[in-house]
Amino acid sequence: MATTITVLSQKGGTGKTTTTRTLVDVFRRVGLRVLAVDMDPQGNLTDYFAVGDDLDPTLADVLAGRADAAAAIHEDVLPASIHLAEAELLLSGKIGRELTLRRALGEVAGDYDLILVDCPPALGLLTVNALVAADAALISTEAEYFSLQGVEQALEVVEAARALSPDLTWIGAVLNIADMRTVHAREALEQLREGFGAKIFETPIRRSVAYAESAERAVSIVDYRPDLGADYLALADEVLDRLGRQGDREALAQLRADLGV
Ligand SMILES: Nc1ncnc2c1ncn2[C@@H]1O[C@H](COP(=O)(O)OP(=O)(O)O)[C@@H](O)[C@H]1O
Ligand SMILES: [Mg+2]
Repeated sequence: MATTITVLSQKGGTGKTTTTRTLVDVFRRVGLRVLAVDMDPQGNLTDYFAVGDDLDPTLADVLAGRADAAAAIHEDVLPASIHLAEAELLLSGKIGRELTLRRALGEVAGDYDLILVDCPPALGLLTVNALVAADAALISTEAEYFSLQGVEQALEVVEAARALSPDLTWIGAVLNIADMRTVHAREALEQLREGFGAKIFETPIRRSVAYAESAERAVSIVDYRPDLGADYLALADEVLDRLGRQGDREALAQLRADLGV
């Protein structure tokens, strides 16, 4: 059965989608079967994987009860569409509304090792669904003065989701899009470590324009700039470690050696 990781934050622009797609990419390279789920109506993750135009059905149909998850998976992506926002409204009136994604993914969990879920830029019903469906919550936060509050707010929602899904754990928070040359970013990291200790991943993801360039070209940062992709390879290793997947860490070490990073 797949382990499901949900990537969330309390707002947009914190690097959630980049983290999701890059971790999906790295985990696939080490030979894992990975499903990417796009819970953001903006569909950035879906666009990145470019699995096709006018996909039908999509996650919106799954949440609305019109399609099975298996039917809505296209090349190991469960895509978003603009209808996802409507699906959220529709869901809000239903009993068991928080459990919809969990139930849907249960049907396909046997086909994958990992399922990664990318969240919308708000802590609403879609994010709650993504958390209730997950085994592990991974919080992304930008390096700024309000990082600490942002992580605290996201954690409150993780706690609320645990009421419906007691096995859900908080795997950690990653300091993202961080210019570690600035005092500002180093202070943000220090504050986070003071507040949350070892829950903050060792590896911050450094800020670089190469991310926007690689996204535009639909190329993984691991290929576009392996020296920067090294951050995500290190983060992936920490995630596998926290999930207790030691065998996969060995495969990842081999990948890192092959890439020379
Ligand atoms: N490490 C990084 N350095 C610089 N820019 C980044 C980095 N990671 C992501 N970005 C860019 O920041 C923007 C927001 O990232 P994204 O992953 O879409 O965040 P979210 O999904 O939280 O809204 C995008 O334009 C993306 O290309
Ligand atoms: Mg996003």
